[in-house]
Amino acid sequence: MEQLRTNAENIAVEVGDWIRKQWANIKKVDLKSNHTDLVTNIDRKSEELIMKKIKERYIHHHILSEEQANGQNGFSILASYDDYCWVIDPLDGTMNFVHNISHYAVSIAVMKNGDPIVGVIYEPNRRELFSAEKGKGAFLNGQPIQVSKQDRLEDSLLHTGFCAPDWNVNSSLQSEFQKGYGRCRYIRITGSSALDLAYVASGRIDGFWQRGLSPWDIAAGVLLVEEAGGRVSGIKNEDYRMKDGNMIASNSKIHLPLYEMLNKD
Ligand code: IPD
Ligand code: CA
Ligand code: CA
Repeated sequence: MEQLRTNAENIAVEVGDWIRKQWANIKKVDLKSNHTDLVTNIDRKSEELIMKKIKERYIHHHILSEEQANGQNGFSILASYDDYCWVIDPLDGTMNFVHNISHYAVSIAVMKNGDPIVGVIYEPNRRELFSAEKGKGAFLNGQPIQVSKQDRLEDSLLHTGFCAPDWNVNSSLQSEFQKGYGRCRYIRITGSSALDLAYVASGRIDGFWQRGLSPWDIAAGVLLVEEAGGRVSGIKNEDYRMKDGNMIASNSKIHLPLYEMLNKD
């Protein structure tokens, strides 16, 4: 498994470093499901580079990648793959990238029988490589990381995000924000769910929740959080099984109060 992790790390760093130099080369910004859902020629090229590198070494492994999935439900595709599957977000945080905001990442997970066994998230602007291996811990640039020790929701910094279809006046996020006002330190939307999870794993923030995510947004991050001592659950606090995209991730100490906050009437 160590070789798998090293290869995933090398691919993420190589391609992430390439993406960092590509902002001036954005030629095309296409809309996917709506005007918040963006894809550029750089997302597509990044995906091509990553897939080529995986196929060179792991010809028999499945690959589930955001732009190849082309609007299909990633969880359904994932359920049809047993054995090894690489789950890729070639550029998580495309809106930030398009607006020249240096907060985006390459996310690569290797799954075996539906569970992540390797998770790598590389943020090329700060040269931060978050990486985890099942049973072996979580690391930032090779140094072990752990979730925060915060046990008071009032002092907790939380991140969340919109999925594209939820960007409307009836959004569930609107009521969830209202439930959070004054009950935690702050709630932020920074535009990369992969980095949100990496930041929970490294103790920079205390919790994250979001609805409507896809496997490529979270597969690597879920393993990072768990290996760093945190907890990942469904939005109803049920065990998380990579079957849907509604999730809460935290340092585990604030998990229950965060769940209760979100589910308050
Ligand atoms: C998006 C980001 C964002 C999240 C969206 C995702 P993309 O991914 O992770 O933080 O709120 O739901 O779709 O499109 O930049 O790869
Ligand atoms: Ca994404
Ligand atoms: Ca993406």
